[in-house]
Amino acid sequence: MNNSGLAVEVSKDRNGTDQILLRNPRGASAKVSLHGGQVLSWRTDRGEELLFTSSKAIFKPPYAVRGGIPICFPQFGQRGSLEQHGFARNRTWIIDENPPPLHANDACGKAYIDLLLKPSEDDLKIWPHSFEFRLRVNLTADGNLSLISRIRNINCKPFSFSIAYHTYFSISDISEVRVEGLETLDYLDNLYQRERFTEQGDALTFESEVDRVYLGSRDAIAIFDHERKRTFFIKKEGLPDVGVWNPWEKKSKAMVDFGDEEYKQMLCVNGAAVEKPITLKPGWRGLANGIVFPNRRLTYRLAWKMVF
Ligand code: BG6
Repeated sequence: MNNSGLAVEVSKDRNGTDQILLRNPRGASAKVSLHGGQVLSWRTDRGEELLFTSSKAIFKPPYAVRGGIPICFPQFGQRGSLEQHGFARNRTWIIDENPPPLHANDACGKAYIDLLLKPSEDDLKIWPHSFEFRLRVNLTADGNLSLISRIRNINCKPFSFSIAYHTYFSISDISEVRVEGLETLDYLDNLYQRERFTEQGDALTFESEVDRVYLGSRDAIAIFDHERKRTFFIKKEGLPDVGVWNPWEKKSKAMVDFGDEEYKQMLCVNGAAVEKPITLKPGWRGLANGIVFPNRRLTYRLAWKMVF
């Protein structure tokens, strides 16, 4: 812990994988695992967990952890040559001891950790594009959480990828929440072979399985959780699409790493670039995303931002 009360502690999880606990002076915290470079926990200064993680999650590479904020890269979904949601989420990342500098605002007053993923030889066999994926996870003195990602193309040819920040929000009850900001948008419905529909309702509510990618959404979205009196405000930049997923009852029972009833306590709302993959020319590109911050009591914000 330094003088400002910001702390960064590295410990081992039960599998011997490093995990990093970021803490701020008021007691808010975030836990990040090198397994998937995944944020597994984000707690307010009152100790309330804001992210869902399944009680049946498997914390052992190569499985992806069911919960938190898995990073789906270099593919989101099943379309493409790779396994669903790409491989970044089930690889072991390393701590990046010497990251290229970021803007001073991205470090000042924050407890943070820099992580790095490079493809293994086996990864290159299935996705022949060399890259460095740098992820900074920040926890501010106010308890804000932000994820800043930078992807470097180290081939001599461009490559394209899709990406999503697969954010599992912890909610009181799926039947009680509503999502605003996606109305009137077109979406691809994974339950209907990605057929394109237009959202008709004023707000999105949930009474059965939902598995959609909303296209070209505006940058402000809100998830209202009435029972918990909690609102997540989502502000994003640069990531045009939004995945919305809840498996509901039947699919929950089919997933080995998910409790039969847990669909009631989670909702995934994911900032993504899916419909139009991102193409990176050789060299650096900035990709900043996933700023999560409690604004005031019982109100939380999540912003995704992408910068080129
Ligand atoms: C969602 C997809 O983003 O992730 C769903 O749209 C999928 O189709 C879900 O079932 C979970 O995927 P996975 O690979 O983590 O089980």
